[in-house]
Amino acid sequence: MRTDPLSFLSAELDTLRQQGLYRSLRVLEDRQQATSVFDGRKVVNLSSNNYLGLTTHPKLIAAASKAIEQYGVGSGSVRTIAGTMAIHMELERRLAAFKKTEAVVVFQSGFAANAGTVSAILTKDDVIVSDALNHASIIDGCRLSKAAIRVFPHKDVDAARKILQELPAGQRKLLITDGVFSMDGDLGPLPALCALAEEFGCIMMVDDAHASGVFGANGRGTIDHFAMHGRVDIQVGTLSKAVGALGGYVAGSRALIDFLYHRARPFLFSTSHPPSVAATCIAALDILEQEPGIIDRLWDNTRFFKAGLQRLGFNTGMSESPITPVIAGEGTRAMRLSDRLFEEGVFAQGIAFPTVARDKARVRTIVTATHTRDELQFALEKFEKVGRELGLI
Ligand SMILES: Cc1ncc(COP(=O)(O)O)c(C=O)c1O
Repeated sequence: MRTDPLSFLSAELDTLRQQGLYRSLRVLEDRQQATSVFDGRKVVNLSSNNYLGLTTHPKLIAAASKAIEQYGVGSGSVRTIAGTMAIHMELERRLAAFKKTEAVVVFQSGFAANAGTVSAILTKDDVIVSDALNHASIIDGCRLSKAAIRVFPHKDVDAARKILQELPAGQRKLLITDGVFSMDGDLGPLPALCALAEEFGCIMMVDDAHASGVFGANGRGTIDHFAMHGRVDIQVGTLSKAVGALGGYVAGSRALIDFLYHRARPFLFSTSHPPSVAATCIAALDILEQEPGIIDRLWDNTRFFKAGLQRLGFNTGMSESPITPVIAGEGTRAMRLSDRLFEEGVFAQGIAFPTVARDKARVRTIVTATHTRDELQFALEKFEKVGRELGLI
């Protein structure tokens, strides 16, 4: 009889179960919105990246439906063969104008944008200087590039400087940071890093996945927030979070974008977005440009909820954005907090090692522009109840 060559995977899963870290996927049974039904339970939803509530916005739904009627449901090819539709080009032009750069290339996801770009522009002879908490898609792109990877402690600009001082002046270097760090909600030190990049002649790259639609004028991101236009060579954004649909993009010079058209492997070897996705994103850009009040509502809710958690005495780390972690310590404690909140009607996903450090497990909360004060007040009451029960406050 054939023995299962994958049996070691079951052993690994058993270990996760013993450690209380095995997770079943929570299943959303209706729309992604401020209160939704997951696993048969109606819960205040603090776990999505749907910052502006655009996943269900009537104008986006109408744009997607119209594009399906007009162009069908699929693009039928990769971008470099027959899968570049006029609407893909229109989205790239709109994003370039929005980001105030010469050009933009859109990828299937933010993950593909980061991994595809870093791996395309660097080689084994180059060096990447990267923040310790950068997103997994950056880390994978770095590995794929085969360049040397030098990691500096989170936001430690002096440590980044020491690394750069040791490197040969002629070597090509990429300095890379998240704009908003996805697990802690703090901001990359862009002004200091841009100055460092200029001093040492580095390519400067910022992953603004959680900043697009959230920070800067009309949601242009942290580059706009910190007035760093023209000082960041490669800006990555996503269309999967605040924009409410799916995709990622790189904004930069015309030469960068033309090069990625020729060399970025997800662009070359994976089918482009359905036209409805491009249409949805264009409608989202209309909203960001014409109705920025939606971003103000996100920030009002953020301030209200963050202050509420802090007043209760929770450890919310260093967050400066709508991502507010509630740090619980050990993984099992964070998972218990998440499970108990869920039973009480609040969905805040538990996050443990290896996504975050072993002693910094947490539940991560993200409020949206569409949460009502009643929903947020309800969530705070439940956090208080469960937090006391578990001895966190
Ligand atoms: C910082 C960061 N970069 C990139 C991504 C990937 O974006 P996407 O979900 O569009 O693939 C994420 C999403 O989790 C992220 O948090």
